[in-house]
Amino acid sequence: MTQSNPYLPLPVTIEKITIENEAKDLKTFRLRFQSDEDASSFKYECGQFAMLSIAGAGESPIGIASSPLDEGILEFTVKRYPTGVVTTALHNFDEGETIGVRGPYGNAYPLEQMEGSNLVIVSGGFAFTTLRSTIRYLLDDSQRSRFKKITVIYGARSPGELLYKDELAEWENRDDIEMVVTVDKGDEGWSGREGFVPTVLQEVSPSAENAYVLVCGPPIMLKFTMPPLLEMGFPPSRIITSLERKMTCGIGKCGRCNVGSKYVCKDGPVFTYEQLQQIPEAVL
Ligand SMILES: Cc1cc2nc3c(=O)[nH]c(=O)nc-3n(C[C@H](O)[C@H](O)[C@H](O)COP(=O)(O)OP(=O)(O)OC[C@H]3O[C@@H](n4cnc5c(N)ncnc54)[C@H](O)[C@@H]3O)c2cc1C
Ligand code: FES
Repeated sequence: MTQSNPYLPLPVTIEKITIENEAKDLKTFRLRFQSDEDASSFKYECGQFAMLSIAGAGESPIGIASSPLDEGILEFTVKRYPTGVVTTALHNFDEGETIGVRGPYGNAYPLEQMEGSNLVIVSGGFAFTTLRSTIRYLLDDSQRSRFKKITVIYGARSPGELLYKDELAEWENRDDIEMVVTVDKGDEGWSGREGFVPTVLQEVSPSAENAYVLVCGPPIMLKFTMPPLLEMGFPPSRIITSLERKMTCGIGKCGRCNVGSKYVCKDGPVFTYEQLQQIPEAVL
């Protein structure tokens, strides 16, 4: 449910900041609602985003990286752009300080529709955030039995750029999820897989039978991932992705985020490949 005044940010305290990568331009912010009422009214689903609001700097749409089952907190993993006003301001905050959050906005991954199916999750770079939310959710004891086999193919440029390293290690040790983690180029400490995500996807070649695939990554990765998925037999209606566009309001009012006749903030950000094939401006 969206809060009653959708433009009013809710105050949240930065409880924990985790530097995720060697380049130190990706940080995960764990935020705690300052009021119990706000915490219980902010109900979200995997795949949705929120507007992070910094007084004097502005607002940015950021995908929610925590699981809907994580009570009282929200997590966001944010990349700082050197000329980015909001992301730079956010990276300068310390634990204990207050920022604002409004949302949740957008649609979600269709997990109910995917129930009883095999799930394949394919991701590269920091677009992994809302899929991390999804994996945390799917692996919860209350949810895992709703889905069949879960295969995750996740890649980063280098070992130092992999997000959520502790969780990746934990998931790799479980026998109810197949984790395939790859880097474009390893270093001397890396004994894992090397290779670009689309190539590794072809090597792993997950079955398309009774399966859905969630795929998020930079445009170049998506461009080279869609053809093999189609060749493997995944129907476009079962290939699900998430789009990023510049946004101002986040609630379908300003017209800033449209692709064709769709507003990414309201009709998306989650779209099936079948839907995107109908929108020439969205061609991946
Ligand atoms: C639905 C949705 C979910 C998103 N989820 C996340 C997320 O989980 N984590 C995250 O870090 N970001 C996410 N983004 C992107 C994020 O909203 C932007 O990076 C952020 O708004 C930039 O704000 P800024 O004020 O720092 O930059 P601005 O001041 O708006 O931009 C300044 C300059 O920064 C650079 N820049 C800004 N954004 C980008 C970009 N996306 N790609 C390349 N260069 C850029 C450009 O050079 C730009 O000219 C998401 C966007 C959408 C629409
Ligand atoms: S961001 Fe305003 S309409 Fe989508």
